[in-house]
Amino acid sequence: MGLSPRWLCSSVPRRPPVVALADDLDRRGLGNTGGVSAPLPSWPSTPPSHGSVVLRAFTDDDVPLAVELGADPYVGLIGTLVARPTPEQALEWIRRQQGRLAEGRGLSFVVADRDSGTAVGTIGLWLRELSEGRATAGFSVAPRHRGRGVAGSATTALLSFAWTIPALHRVELYIEPWNTSSLRVAEASGFQREGLLRSHQEIGGRRRDMLLFAATRD
Ligand SMILES: CC(C)(COP(=O)(O)OP(=O)(O)OC[C@H]1O[C@@H](n2cnc3c(N)ncnc32)[C@H](O)[C@@H]1OP(=O)(O)O)[C@@H](O)C(=O)NCCC(=O)NCCS
Repeated sequence: MGLSPRWLCSSVPRRPPVVALADDLDRRGLGNTGGVSAPLPSWPSTPPSHGSVVLRAFTDDDVPLAVELGADPYVGLIGTLVARPTPEQALEWIRRQQGRLAEGRGLSFVVADRDSGTAVGTIGLWLRELSEGRATAGFSVAPRHRGRGVAGSATTALLSFAWTIPALHRVELYIEPWNTSSLRVAEASGFQREGLLRSHQEIGGRRRDMLLFAATRD
């Protein structure tokens, strides 16, 4: 989908985080963006969990998960994992996920089954706009683990962690209107539908409408 900014579920912002941008503007005396810089969170000392899932860091052993995710062409369109990755490409993607927090982009988690430890999906909390009090979230579940409430539980766990970040007040999800399961996940995990953003972004070479959902700190 080219280099256009992608904010929907599962996407990873390619542009530098606002936190870094604001610092850069301050240094150059170009004014500010209306926000104040906010410290990035540390990796959670207690893995966020809900229901049957736990959120953990990526390891090199997650190559099979990445290969499974990459078998769904839509996952390739909305994120940085290439479609049908080789094990080497899967590992490169994992390494990028492991570096997201140090880059200031956010936290990229593996969603694992709490009992067996099996990696079943991925979920991210993207913090480019943390200085404005906002984050976006995105998720993908490996095809053979879908339809069992994994994404809903992972999103609930992610939100619990999100509200431990003092500067964060709003978490957004951008979902294509046809993506029924994602819409259900959003609603079931406490997000409210705010409206339709027409022709909001390009995915797979085509402009797409996106539904905006948000959860706010109580
Ligand atoms: C979207 C996705 C993460 C959902 O994962 P999941 O673990 O299967 O989701 P859940 O099992 O929690 O199911 C979510 C809801 O959608 C419903 N659902 C699933 N498939 C559906 C379909 N084809 N039509 C209608 N509802 C559907 C489920 O019944 C469930 O609703 P319920 O909780 O009210 O019963 C997964 O399909 C995926 O990875 N898709 C590709 C990547 C993607 O689209 N990511 C999100 C971008 S916004």
